[in-house]
Amino acid sequence: MDLLLVTCAAYAEGEPGHGALDVALAERGISARWVLWDDPTVEWAGSLVAIRSAWDYETRREEFLAWARSVPRLLNGVDVFVWNTDKVYLTQLADAGLPVVPTISVDGEEDLPAAIAVVWDENPSGAVVKPRVGAGGRGVTIFDGTDGGPVELDESGLGLGPWVVQPLVSSVRTEGEYSVFVLAGEPRSMVRKVPVGDEIRVHEEYGGSTAPVTRTAEAGDLARRTVRAAEAMIGARLDYARVDLLRLADGALAVSELEVTEPGLYLEELPENGPAFAAMVAAVLQEG
Ligand SMILES: Nc1ncnc2c1ncn2[C@@H]1O[C@H](COP(=O)(O)OP(=O)(O)O)[C@@H](O)[C@H]1O
Ligand SMILES: [Mg+2]
Repeated sequence: MDLLLVTCAAYAEGEPGHGALDVALAERGISARWVLWDDPTVEWAGSLVAIRSAWDYETRREEFLAWARSVPRLLNGVDVFVWNTDKVYLTQLADAGLPVVPTISVDGEEDLPAAIAVVWDENPSGAVVKPRVGAGGRGVTIFDGTDGGPVELDESGLGLGPWVVQPLVSSVRTEGEYSVFVLAGEPRSMVRKVPVGDEIRVHEEYGGSTAPVTRTAEAGDLARRTVRAAEAMIGARLDYARVDLLRLADGALAVSELEVTEPGLYLEELPENGPAFAAMVAAVLQEG
């Protein structure tokens, strides 16, 4: 059985740094190629399918999930994607007892000012509002008292709801955000991502930078616990996951995102994620 690596038109050749993954798969004798999830000519049956850089689904979520449902053999699987493509899952992880960046879900615009006010009351550095279905930092909006606030709500850039509202975790500007890669249930590698200037978004398209760091016990343990809790909640195995972590004012790390749909592997910064991902794929293929 071969492997189809799923990407989108903007990354038709593969995710950034894909050579490290391509070589690692070839070394294991796994024949793999990159395909677009919305390419009608692809024959999905008969291959194992790994979603990698399908980074255009957020405005086409229903279409994306319907396609995923039609694929017979998919890593992580459609139930995981249904759960994970709506950030309301963060409230469920918190309910399960994990440390999570405090998250309020808001359906309608009329309820936003009150939610922002609640968050602001407890966190003077401000509130962050972002779409529940979102990726790549799009629609992330800060309410910190400098450009409108809970009373004079500046809705530019907020887009359509529903949203999640969180305290602005100010350590993102200094310590940054960590990503821990969990493959086949075990934490493997970790990066630290920092924003620039007034930005809080760590993504490279907003000037952020990413560097590999030594995985700490605190981050690795929390990432592993998060994956286990999500597996129990969804009733599915997580073949791959990226757990994003921010440090809260109390000094402890908390989950800011669990990416189990299309987490970039940061192969340019962490080429070792290539062989680690290939090993996970090889084990799944061996299950038959
Ligand atoms: N509550 C927050 N406090 C501080 N920074 C945040 C917060 N929420 C988001 N960010 C910043 O914005 C980025 C994008 O938000 P995130 O929740 O990861 O959504 P996406 O799915 O778009 O990546 C994060 O990587 C982080 O840099
Ligand atoms: Mg993110």
